[in-house]
Amino acid sequence: MKKIVIASIAALALGSSLMAAAPASCAGCHGADGSKNTMVPNSVPNKMSKADIKAAMSGYKAGTLDKYGKGALMAGFAKPLTDAQINDVVEAWGK
Ligand code: HEC
Repeated sequence: MKKIVIASIAALALGSSLMAAAPASCAGCHGADGSKNTMVPNSVPNKMSKADIKAAMSGYKAGTLDKYGKGALMAGFAKPLTDAQINDVVEAWGK
């Protein structure tokens, strides 16, 4: 029993150290966990699939996506991100 507890604690610690985080610039509108969108009531980024978040971020970065009429605003936050930062958001928020 003790060994099992120690093993699960180790697994949890490993899991969290590998967890990606979204850039701090997103938290003001989406929360650190992507659970809200202060400007669009029906948008909950952390309920999206990993593929959908990746596609959305690419669209905003390219300036071609405008889902709720605020695409230009999101483009301003998406454009400075590196591919690695976009992957971090996808891993942190995506299902
Ligand atoms: C000033 C507020 C604000 C900030 C900061 C912001 N966003 Fe957004 N985000 C929005 C708005 C508004 C939309 C809807 C855009 C549209 O009309 O397509 C949106 C849409 C999104 C979507 C798509 C949501 C959906 O419902 O399809 C994702 C994913 C997203 N943002 C991720 C991010 C990430 C990652 C960052 C940080 C790099 C970020 N946002 C920073 C306001 C913000």
